[in-house]
Amino acid sequence: MKKTVLVSGGAGFIGSHVTVELTQAGYDVVIADNMSNCDETNYKGVCAILGRQLPFEKIDFCDSAAVEALFSRYTIDAVIHFAAYKAVGESVDEPLMYYKNNLDSFLNVLEAARKHGTHVLFSSSATVYGEPEKTPVTEESPRQEATSPYGNTKQMCEDFLRDCVKAYGMHGIALRYFNPIGAHPSALIGELPRGVPNNLVPFITQTAIGKRECLSIFGNDYPTPDGTCLRDYIDIVDLARAHVCAVTRMIEERMDKPYEIFNIGTGRPLSVLELVTSFEKVNNLKLNYRIAPRRPGDVVAIWADPTLANEKLGWKATRTIEETLASAWAWEKHLAGRA
Ligand code: UFG
Repeated sequence: MKKTVLVSGGAGFIGSHVTVELTQAGYDVVIADNMSNCDETNYKGVCAILGRQLPFEKIDFCDSAAVEALFSRYTIDAVIHFAAYKAVGESVDEPLMYYKNNLDSFLNVLEAARKHGTHVLFSSSATVYGEPEKTPVTEESPRQEATSPYGNTKQMCEDFLRDCVKAYGMHGIALRYFNPIGAHPSALIGELPRGVPNNLVPFITQTAIGKRECLSIFGNDYPTPDGTCLRDYIDIVDLARAHVCAVTRMIEERMDKPYEIFNIGTGRPLSVLELVTSFEKVNNLKLNYRIAPRRPGDVVAIWADPTLANEKLGWKATRTIEETLASAWAWEKHLAGRA
């Protein structure tokens, strides 16, 4: 019998790509979103890629009665929880808004999952490692004190899941994403930042299309080979496939222990300048950029050791940075109606 996965925040950037991969892998997916941080573009794109309408539930995960009703309406085998605020800077200005939204919503999911015997996958982040002492980071690398309320909610939600699994005999996985970038090869779904993008790749594509005048590279005097920061940029479709592997591992009861954590990255560090140069080369264009002062709070260098995910999940990043950066550009052109 087909298994059903609930994707909270399923109309967002990561949630929409995960929905496509899960459906193509044979799962029934229920998308749930309160649409507070996105429009219908990605939901429509998902339906266009799959050639059919998927169940969509407009709900706020902070509403515990609505969450419970949702879990009662469907037989949900696993829930993947993406519904959360995600802007680091905004979280510093509005900590209460972040704590209320990101913690309440996950607590409601955990409560319903406990009651209904649902497996839980939590979308965590490499932000939990802070500035690592040693790179690449493994899942055993120590977490560092969070530097923003956003980062703190990721750590706290990981702990909520760990403790609930232990106390209630549940099963849970936390995936720690490195830097998700790119878009679906169809260019029908992708990242839709609100206002001025904080993240590098949306800023690059918006500069290339003419929406932004100039990309600022934040600092070129870091202790790295070319002086710019190092990150592990993971293709969004590769990242989405890791969720399929993790959900299947839970549903098929193949876990080594009831709560597991996996790094989801490529294992390959790339500097900001290398990424910009690759983008220019693969898309055959010149980007207007300048070197600007360092951005406060930036980690100098972090990339994943993805061995555990490779071995236990049977997952590996496969798309090249060129394919990924071409997909990001195709998506921006699609949005501009130029493709
Ligand atoms: N960068 C620029 N110019 C820009 C934007 C970014 O030079 O306009 C640089 C940053 O300084 C950094 C790199 O590009 O060196 C990557 O920056 P992103 O903002 O794309 O990504 P981060 O690694 O800073 O952010 C990620 C996740 C967040 C998470 C954060 C924690 O996107 O969700 O790590 O540090 F919280």
